[in-house]
Amino acid sequence: MAAINSVADLALHGDVAVLTINSPPVNALSAVVRDGLKRGVEAANADANSKAIVLICAGRTFIAGADISEFGKPPTPPFLPEVLDTIENAAKPVVAAIHGTALGGGFEVALTAHYRIAAPSAKFGLPEVKLGLIPGAGGTQRLPRLIGVEKALDVILSGAPFDAASAKDWGVIDALAEEGKLLDGALAYARRLVDESAPLRKVRALEDKIRAARGKPEIFEAIRKANARKFRGFEAWLKAIEAVKNAVDLPFDEGVAAERRMFMDLLGTTQSKAQRYVFFAERQAAKIPDVPEDTATRPIRSVGVIGAGTMGGGIVMNFLNAGTPATIVETSREALDRGLSIIRKNYENTAKKGRLTQADVEQRMALLSGTLDLGALADKDLIIEAVFEDMAVKKEVFAKLDALAKPGAILASNTSYLNIDEIAATTKRPQDVLGAHFFSPANIMRLLEIVRGEKTAKDVIATAMKVAKKIGKVGVLVGVCRGFVGNRMLAQRQREANKLIIEGATPWDVDRVLYDFGLPMGPFAMSDLAGLDIGWSREKSSSSTIREILCERGRRGQKTGAGFYDYDEQRNARPSALVEEIIAEFAAKKGVNRRVVSDEEILERCLYPMINEGAKILEEGKALRASDIDVVWINGYGWPVYRGGPMFYADTIGLKRVLDKMKAFQAAMGDDFKPAALLERLAESGGAFTGG
Ligand code: 3HC
Ligand code: NAI
Repeated sequence: MAAINSVADLALHGDVAVLTINSPPVNALSAVVRDGLKRGVEAANADANSKAIVLICAGRTFIAGADISEFGKPPTPPFLPEVLDTIENAAKPVVAAIHGTALGGGFEVALTAHYRIAAPSAKFGLPEVKLGLIPGAGGTQRLPRLIGVEKALDVILSGAPFDAASAKDWGVIDALAEEGKLLDGALAYARRLVDESAPLRKVRALEDKIRAARGKPEIFEAIRKANARKFRGFEAWLKAIEAVKNAVDLPFDEGVAAERRMFMDLLGTTQSKAQRYVFFAERQAAKIPDVPEDTATRPIRSVGVIGAGTMGGGIVMNFLNAGTPATIVETSREALDRGLSIIRKNYENTAKKGRLTQADVEQRMALLSGTLDLGALADKDLIIEAVFEDMAVKKEVFAKLDALAKPGAILASNTSYLNIDEIAATTKRPQDVLGAHFFSPANIMRLLEIVRGEKTAKDVIATAMKVAKKIGKVGVLVGVCRGFVGNRMLAQRQREANKLIIEGATPWDVDRVLYDFGLPMGPFAMSDLAGLDIGWSREKSSSSTIREILCERGRRGQKTGAGFYDYDEQRNARPSALVEEIIAEFAAKKGVNRRVVSDEEILERCLYPMINEGAKILEEGKALRASDIDVVWINGYGWPVYRGGPMFYADTIGLKRVLDKMKAFQAAMGDDFKPAALLERLAESGGAFTGG
């Protein structure tokens, strides 16, 4: 065994050279890995004793891609294209032996090998679009040559990994090894190639899979059309389509050169910077300075959920999906049956779309039991309360849980706004209590705000973070304050949106501006969807807000066919002249002189106070870092990932500008716009929230 460098070793197994890359955690293509690959293949190629070369990785995975942390820094040689040329131009067969995840540049390395063999559990993919990029090392040119334009674009545009069985089916890999015996399989395969004098098969030379699309721009146009909605606001995907079109229309080397140019251009865009920042931000969120990674966690083998309403039902599905048995508790048979049937219906709908089999549905439902007896939760490891948002009701539930839950059980509340410490204080075990704030629909939205109470034990936090990961959520640790991180900032936006429509903007103006910014919908469309009557009661209603007036007139949102908007049978929204009248009348009564409100003002009034609130949250230590706030907004509220979250966005426009605007608004409209001390400090010192 000869060391090529600190991460690459070359060894001769009989007449097959084995080049092993070992650069934890994921063998990313850092400069040293590129160097190891290039010099390793050169050495093996030059060694007269070897007749074939196996390229394999140690540790948990084959190369998982370019080293994202190197992007944006001055490039260091050897550059990836040279490395790939070295592999592809080797004079003896190179076999890539793949386990774990061959992603991005890693998959592209494998595509330059002459043959590929993989462990059955291996996964492949080109996730670059998720980073605001396109594959930049030949992926857009080689993959279509292997599997055709449509499939290749599916892989590239979805960014989703595919498994080894599909890879084999499609001809991406040539052979499957036995699980756990990849090296043996690869050696045997390489020897067979040598024995058979197999040709050096270069993917770049293949033509038959792309020929069909040549001279047919309509294929690409159709793919553009089909994806336009999904990629609203994103830049990279169109370049990916262009690059694959080049694969069909241009000679290979020209296609590769064009791909590289587009890749380099995209690297410099704010979108890609934002998306790369989010990649690391999501991983950073899992790190809690005073709860080290090796903190022992409590085993969670069974879960109880209290309340089978909108949230309880969604929450429990996460656990069933992860194979954890769960019990859901309600107060009436009717509510329980309704809750259970909605869960089943949700699964059935997924099955209808072909994303679950009927057996999967039954398997999940078999893990679920429903009861009216809270006592059934006595042996549960984790209990999540999702009853009405009412402190008295929550306190009663937690007092009962304290009396019946087994020692060491974790007691969590899904409250949106209420004080976790006050809830914990009703128990004799506040160290076991925390907030687990899911977002609606709870089985889909990736965010989980984990609310740390004053007394929450460290192992409870560590366990909650681990559970979040297990059920496919991004857990973000937040502190106790009204609305925690997400809803506390949302309240700022909602206040301004409500003020803006009195001052002269229409609800559709506000919604349009925020939609065009990249959010999935504006605040008024959102209110209509959720129902305007959440928390509203006829008895207490006094026509004191537009929302109250609309509820009083029976306009309760989409479900009643009218809210801020009018809705047709298909729930398509139309602006309502009546609502404009209602608003104008209301404004007149309040003595407001209505004016034209610019789109720019709408955007700044809605977003800057949110950013300012984010700064206060940081000052108060209610979030650990600005990037955690961004992770909350991206995963819980649909903030466009290409804008990196509100705090990253603030940095991209400049904190000085945000501060100046907040001061101007404050002078004109009062202390709703009082700048946070942290914003002032950073803006004045030329600092940034994220350093992104
Ligand atoms: N570059 C740098 N660091 C990376 C990395 C990469 N490509 N991929 C993962 N890491 C780091 C993570 O930041 C994390 O670091 P930490 O422990 O300090 O937080 C560590 O590796 C482990 O990562 P995960 O926590 O994500 O581990 P998982 O086991 O859950 O997932 C994975 C592993 C599936 C490989 C996942 O990390 C992943 O999806 N990585 C990104 C893959 C990717 O996007 N590759 C394409 C890059 S762009 C490219 O290749 C351009 C090319 O076309 C030229
Ligand atoms: P919901 O009204 O749909 O469901 C609450 C359910 O709890 C009802 O089915 C009710 O019968 C049941 N319930 C009430 N008291 C109970 C008790 N003592 N024991 C057992 N069951 C009881 O309400 P929703 O929307 O699911 O909200 C639940 C909690 O989740 C609230 O704290 C809310 O603030 C929070 N939340 C709601 C979100 C949303 O978008 N709806 C988002 C995030 C959190």
